[in-house]
Amino acid sequence: MERIGTRKLRVMLVPLPLQGHLTPMLQLASVLHLRGFSVIVAHTEFNSPNPENHPDFTFIPLKDGVCSPSANLLDMISAINTNCKEPLEKCIVELQGQLSCIIYDSLLHFVDTVAHHLKLPTIFFRPSTAVYMQSYLSLLSLHGKMIIPLPGLCVSPVLCKHTVYNLMYDLTTKLLAESHLEEAVPELHPIIRFKDLPLSVLSKIPQVVIDFVKSFSDIKSSVAVIWNSVEILDDFSIHQQYQVPFFPIGPLHKMASSSSSMPTSLLQEDPGCIAWLDKQALKSVLYVSLGSLATLSSEALVETAMGIANSGQPFLWAIRPSSVAGSEWIECLPQGLRGVIQERGLIVKWAPQKEVLAHPAVGGFLSHCGWNSTLESLSQGVAMICMPFFGDQMINARFSVHVWEVGVEIGNMADRKSIEEAVRALMVDEQGKEMRCRAAEIKHKLHLSMVKGGSSCRALEDLVEFITSLSA
Ligand code: UDX
Repeated sequence: MERIGTRKLRVMLVPLPLQGHLTPMLQLASVLHLRGFSVIVAHTEFNSPNPENHPDFTFIPLKDGVCSPSANLLDMISAINTNCKEPLEKCIVELQGQLSCIIYDSLLHFVDTVAHHLKLPTIFFRPSTAVYMQSYLSLLSLHGKMIIPLPGLCVSPVLCKHTVYNLMYDLTTKLLAESHLEEAVPELHPIIRFKDLPLSVLSKIPQVVIDFVKSFSDIKSSVAVIWNSVEILDDFSIHQQYQVPFFPIGPLHKMASSSSSMPTSLLQEDPGCIAWLDKQALKSVLYVSLGSLATLSSEALVETAMGIANSGQPFLWAIRPSSVAGSEWIECLPQGLRGVIQERGLIVKWAPQKEVLAHPAVGGFLSHCGWNSTLESLSQGVAMICMPFFGDQMINARFSVHVWEVGVEIGNMADRKSIEEAVRALMVDEQGKEMRCRAAEIKHKLHLSMVKGGSSCRALEDLVEFITSLSA
């Protein structure tokens, strides 16, 4: 590693304070530190990472004015973009030219504004796939061409004063719109349908949302893009538009260290579930987790619980506090059902997920298909039941089921019968065995991409050289 005098090259990373974004940014920090960089993490006070877990990094808190987690993520992100500008500028000025570059989460565009003003290069970091980012560019383009909102639904249904005609009109437009939702989105991978896009295309998209999408899909003055993604799983044709060097160096949780346990969780992990897994038969357990943001209605919780219980399969289920509407935790599960569940399952508040997925007793994963969870599952060769909710989850689910063929899809409103069938299909049936074989092949390919000569390994070498050249 090239040094300036006796000092290592120093990079600053600015993460978005949400679990699915913070984790891969800290993993990236670890990867760069292992390559000899000195790492500063400038972070919000809200959802601050614990510096004690990362003694190798310097942490600088930025006053963000976000007092409590907002139900509206857009408001929270916009508050950070406004409030952290001045503290970041002050902090960079105090560092007096010691930084080679700043790597920032793509949703934090204020970082690029501040750095550009101080003539510091920035690198744009995306914690999810390039295909997902491309879907936002397509949304903007289709919105510009007025292809969305999809035809039918925006027209006032006042065709005739007679109610029956109105009802018929409503039904026809609904059916028309629903059939459009099943169509493939032009310019995207053919398996992506309108209904898989991250924003609803049935009604007019509010201008504030359009502006938000424009702000994070534009790399502004950034000199490169880092993706927590892998060549064999993704499509980087988006770089025809971005036209800067790009570095797909995922899966970052594997690239970060040989140990799977770098602590990045904002919630306390329950280690007891590993001892419970130790007592279960090989590949018998279904692991269930819906990540750090998705919520369930109490009805959906009961349906999911019934479906899993009726499948007869042992399971480990991570249910975050406050993730069930109207409940602090799982009070809304009827006592009787809880008894049945506990006969062959374990429910925890937050699991050490990477360790769980690496455990030989785990044979399948019922997942919301967040990108970190998807990468963690594929890296361990674990096949999935895909229950996507929002954002990139529908696209990740489509790829899991139809491109990599390692999953069965159920909607997030599935009833107990469909859930039971999906669990059996994955854990017991022949198709589940085939999915596990394909997942094992992907695990092997991911491993190859990370070792010498593999795509992620090469991209990382190139990234190190690229950052070094910024200080030359
Ligand atoms: C969000 C979006 O939902 C996701 O689609 C996007 O790709 C990233 O931002 P999140 O919903 O939290 O993330 O999902 P995911 O990306 O899967 O990240 C969750 C992280 O929490 C994973 O790293 C997982 O290992 C961890 N986790 C989850 C635990 O450690 N324990 C748990 O019990 C549950």
